[in-house]
Amino acid sequence: MNIDKIVPKEVKNIICYEVKTIEDRKSSEQIVKMDFNENFAAPADVIQKIVVEACKDVDVRAYPPPKGGLAVKAIADFVGFSDCEVSVANGADEIMDLLMKAFVRKGTKVLVAEPSFPMYTFFAELYGGTKVSAFLEPDFSLNVNNLLSKADKKTSLLFVCSPNNPTANQFPESDIKKLLNEFNGLVVVDEAYADFASGSVLNLVKDYDNLVVLRSFSKAFGLAGVRLGYLVADKQVVNYVQKVTGPFNVNVLTQRIVALALQQWSVFKERIDHVKQERDWLLSKLKELKGITVFPSDANFLLFKVTKDNLTSATVKQRLETRNVLVKDRGHLPLLENCIRVTVGTRSMNQAFLSALKQTLEE
Ligand SMILES: Cc1ncc(COP(=O)(O)O)c(C=O)c1O
Repeated sequence: MNIDKIVPKEVKNIICYEVKTIEDRKSSEQIVKMDFNENFAAPADVIQKIVVEACKDVDVRAYPPPKGGLAVKAIADFVGFSDCEVSVANGADEIMDLLMKAFVRKGTKVLVAEPSFPMYTFFAELYGGTKVSAFLEPDFSLNVNNLLSKADKKTSLLFVCSPNNPTANQFPESDIKKLLNEFNGLVVVDEAYADFASGSVLNLVKDYDNLVVLRSFSKAFGLAGVRLGYLVADKQVVNYVQKVTGPFNVNVLTQRIVALALQQWSVFKERIDHVKQERDWLLSKLKELKGITVFPSDANFLLFKVTKDNLTSATVKQRLETRNVLVKDRGHLPLLENCIRVTVGTRSMNQAFLSALKQTLEE
């Protein structure tokens, strides 16, 4: 059978998002994993207890509460919205998928403030949409007028990631408000990293029916392996997203785990504050190094530019990898020539990274 004949054009054209896992690399050695913005400073013992308790609480012979109902209730209570203003999925990634599934088809344009998280483009194109880029300014600020000027009647969604991955900065609320007031479509603000920043636009959902805020349990809560993301939006938006969501999309263990984690928010919050302090420490140490320039951060990662002559970010990334430190090369992206993104880890991870980077720069 010629399978190519029956595959839709959008699926044929999409580039498979490949993720290199640790198993693909040297598995026996100690790897310092600072490439995916996970949170290894999250309280491992508390998380383990929560997972064990969740296992005891649930009966996995039964289907889970539909549409993640148990997690929806816990999250809605936590963020101060009603259940009908929250929708959950297997990570913020799947929330993006569902949003595009609900609002994007051939002919739809999706405007994205870039450079940013690549999955907006991936899912927009999967449903036949066209991504339109509006680039940040060289200092990574939003050019709101430029963004708005790129929107037309076919533009249904506008994505802004704040704090932005990979530039690490959070955009001012006044910028988001201007977009909400002037853009004739949904403004999706991806706040996967907002707990590491000083603010959030979550409460604006009460005033703007065109605002969708995305959140994730992968970063602040250190629950990347559990897979839970959510959106908060007007109930009409939530209704449409739920229409395209499978009946039992989120498993019962995940739902129970996030409900239990939210009950222990103060413990997680304390670790988040610790990551912020560690970020500031790492930033100050990177500032002392010759051959790189580091940018400020409102997230749990830092972006730095390799400025040493005849050295590229790709080479630095490779040399760090030979020293068992994994970081993300972002040097191929617009505005980010020779830039590398590094996750803030525990003090020992950060020290291992600093020492490997120093050796790399002196090589
Ligand atoms: C900006 C941004 N949004 C969303 C995600 C995906 O989050 P999740 O793990 O909940 O799918 C990531 C993951 O790195 C991210 O950087």
